[in-house]
Amino acid sequence: MPLETTLLIVKPDGVQRGLVGRIITRLEEKGLQLAGLKMMRIPRELAERHYESHKAKKFYPGLVRFMTSSPVVVLAVRGVNAIAISRNLMGSTFGPDAAPGTIRGDFGASRSFNLIHGSDSPDAARRELELFFGAGEVVDWSPVNLDWVYDRSEELA
Ligand code: RTP
Ligand code: MG
Repeated sequence: MPLETTLLIVKPDGVQRGLVGRIITRLEEKGLQLAGLKMMRIPRELAERHYESHKAKKFYPGLVRFMTSSPVVVLAVRGVNAIAISRNLMGSTFGPDAAPGTIRGDFGASRSFNLIHGSDSPDAARRELELFFGAGEVVDWSPVNLDWVYDRSEELA
């Protein structure tokens, strides 16, 4: 099975509330691999491009304002089915509705401040990784525990 790399963002509320470590821990504990990590204040134009598929929606201006309001932590995260797995770990979009056990379900009570972004498809992941990470910022490395996270005879070709 192919390894996927996906773009996750700990949003401004996650950073302000001191949840960066706990969110990253959940990803690592699941067996996902960190391949890129940086803190940044997202420039407005980048936030607009990142969420351009929502441009026509009523919430778009508020979303761009929120994402640029305070620093975020941007992550490139790798694993077999990393996109679906990280979306499952995040939980559904709005904190009040998200299932307990998920990041949004456990830490979020708001419909706007929902702690984390994750790419929702391989195409989105490719596009978003390119938006947020420059050349050499996503690192290829081989975790020593890979053979015990996955069954190499079946899951890692
Ligand atoms: P994200 O893109 O941030 O990972 O979130 P998502 O896939 O779960 O949700 P999406 O539909 O892509 O929406 C992007 C972000 O816009 C805000 N939103 N507000 N008020 C509303 O109806 C509404 N709908 C979406 C949320 O912050 C959501 O994360
Ligand atoms: Mg989305």
